[in-house]
Amino acid sequence: MSFERDILERIPPHIRGLKGYVPGKTIEEVVATYQPDRISKLASNENRWGFAPGVSEAVGRAMQVANNYPSALANTLRASLSTKLSCTQEQLVIGAGSESLLGLLCRTFFGPEDEIVTASATFVGLNIQAHIHQIPVIQVPLTPDYRFDVGAIAASVNERTRAVYIANPNNPTGTIITKQELAMLMSSLPEQVMLILDEAYVEFARENPLYPDSLPIITQANTSIHPNTLILRTFSKAYGLASFRVGYALGPAELIQALWKTKNTFEPSGISEAAAISALEDDHFLINSVQRTREARQDLEAFLAHHQIPYVPSSANFVMLLAPDEAQALRITESLLHLGVIVRQLSPFGISNGIRITVGLEEEMVHLKQALESCWLPG
Ligand SMILES: Cc1ncc(COP(=O)(O)O)c(C=O)c1O
Repeated sequence: MSFERDILERIPPHIRGLKGYVPGKTIEEVVATYQPDRISKLASNENRWGFAPGVSEAVGRAMQVANNYPSALANTLRASLSTKLSCTQEQLVIGAGSESLLGLLCRTFFGPEDEIVTASATFVGLNIQAHIHQIPVIQVPLTPDYRFDVGAIAASVNERTRAVYIANPNNPTGTIITKQELAMLMSSLPEQVMLILDEAYVEFARENPLYPDSLPIITQANTSIHPNTLILRTFSKAYGLASFRVGYALGPAELIQALWKTKNTFEPSGISEAAAISALEDDHFLINSVQRTREARQDLEAFLAHHQIPYVPSSANFVMLLAPDEAQALRITESLLHLGVIVRQLSPFGISNGIRITVGLEEEMVHLKQALESCWLPG
């Protein structure tokens, strides 16, 4: 047996069997495979309007000192965030995107004897990180209208349950759990069960009057509602900084302190920290791109309704379409790719007839609509 093979065979079985995250196709891959006339990349829920204009200059300045390690605690970003969120810096940990924070949570707080309860179709990053750390995940089916079934989730909690993971809004469905549902969940959770609220798309959902403001759970010390709550947020979506890899967790200082112990020391980079600080200062860009996203989403939903293409109403920057079955969803996704429209087919997310489409620029939406008209019902 060769040395290399021996090493491969010693990989623990749970890692050997891991499929890993399957990312959406890149523009380069689509160009190489399909050579379309133009490309609309609508597969990864990025901000199609880019990022705040000041970011480039801030990054340029940070580049000048890129020979030095960054601040290990991302102190400047934490100071900006704590002002913005009215929390203390001790309640914040910064990571290389919220996906890395999910990994951090798993390795810090949970083990193979525990369970995490979540929905059957949610952000796959949680399942991958839990699998790596051999933490069983209990997947509670969504409601018929593709929402987290909060009652069934609460009922699934048992003595092994160490956390409940809720993506709000959820990816890939775009649905939310409401103020009332969150209050109900918190009142039913035993104190020792951590509530993880992944709010990657919070900026897009705030306009929905039913969407809960979770910050008081953390920032109001006298709150009687679930004390073991951690909120995850990211700069990858509304702030448009996906490639910089910056996210943060907000929670009780004691829990946050535990996360600092296991975190990779110098993540995110100083360049990324500078980008996030600059993005945070530009409310105008944020408000404007959230508003444009909302308009583009409403317009897309109206188009879908008009063409009787089934979809789930969304509170995020993407919409989930429902094809008749998996074969049709795969066919439509492939046909769209041929036409240069990159979207996400949702078998890996647990909704095999689903297709997720990020809403974007006007020209991208025109491209998408033309392509959908020719692909959805062939012939
Ligand atoms: C619900 C949810 N959480 C977390 C992430 C990861 O984001 P980040 O780029 O911060 O790792 C995503 C990315 O798509 C997401 O949809």
